[in-house]
Amino acid sequence: MEHADAVVTVRVPAKLNLVLAVGPARSDGYHELATVFHAVSLYDTVEARPAAEITVVVTGERAAGVPTGSTNLAARAAAELRRATGVRAGVRLNISKRIPVAAGLAGGSADAAASLVACDALWGTRLSGGRLAALAAGLGSDVPFALEGGTAIGTGRGERLTAVTAGATFHWVLATTGSGLSTPAVYAELDRLRGGRPVPSPEVDPAVLEALRRGEPVALAATLRNDLQPAACALRPDLRGTLDAGERAGALAGIVSGSGPTCAFLARDEPHASDVAARLQAVADHSVVLQVRGPVPGARVVEAATG
Ligand code: C5P
Repeated sequence: MEHADAVVTVRVPAKLNLVLAVGPARSDGYHELATVFHAVSLYDTVEARPAAEITVVVTGERAAGVPTGSTNLAARAAAELRRATGVRAGVRLNISKRIPVAAGLAGGSADAAASLVACDALWGTRLSGGRLAALAAGLGSDVPFALEGGTAIGTGRGERLTAVTAGATFHWVLATTGSGLSTPAVYAELDRLRGGRPVPSPEVDPAVLEALRRGEPVALAATLRNDLQPAACALRPDLRGTLDAGERAGALAGIVSGSGPTCAFLARDEPHASDVAARLQAVADHSVVLQVRGPVPGARVVEAATG
């Protein structure tokens, strides 16, 4: 669809990690993971239009702090797709940002996945799912999941995915306070806290998968686990207060999402989530409090028009 007025619009969700079991540091600087990704209904939108070069504009309520140059992960995704396919076209990407930045919600990875899907449609390269996933893995550990969405086990550094059945929709409240946390810094803090002690291979407890399959939030609440949480809380001691506030607001359980600082609180159902969100908002007036549900699909074209 290389028409001058063409536009492809892709919507892409944020993710939570319901389990993030972190194994030993590998020689390549990454950590071996066993994680359960869960895509939730908080979306960025990426619009792609034909252009001579690859450029990025970031708009929307959470645009501040997102780089717009060639270091932007969405721009890198477009460049990688171009390199892999030999396409000569450029693209003007407009990212409408709602996913908080550096928040443990994989917003940058989401934009990269959306850019791959949007450019693939705009340039008519029509890569297979496998080739897109391979490009995604080269861009970042969380990018393949942002393409897939749903709920999935991630192994390796998080890029090897196995879909997991969720028997119901789960309702969550997210609370993000203060500035973001750097993912490498949180992993480094975990290594420091572990102090060189041997770390077992990471595993996903089968009870998580059973709770997901049965669609039982109370059972799921008991199985949430994030090995990065002590490290995120060490770097941001205020997170303990946020987790406590969520518990006092009546959430079934609370957990730091990914490398933080977003905290995710599980509710029984939608009305319960609304109640938890209202209570949290009342006590945490500097927070962004959002009510979301999951699982939802990954990066998808929502509109393709030739102007
Ligand atoms: O893959 P991605 O670029 O998102 O990873 C960012 C950083 O997070 C890595 O450079 C590394 O420091 C850390 N990381 C890790 N182990 C993983 C994933 C990420 O140590 N499995």
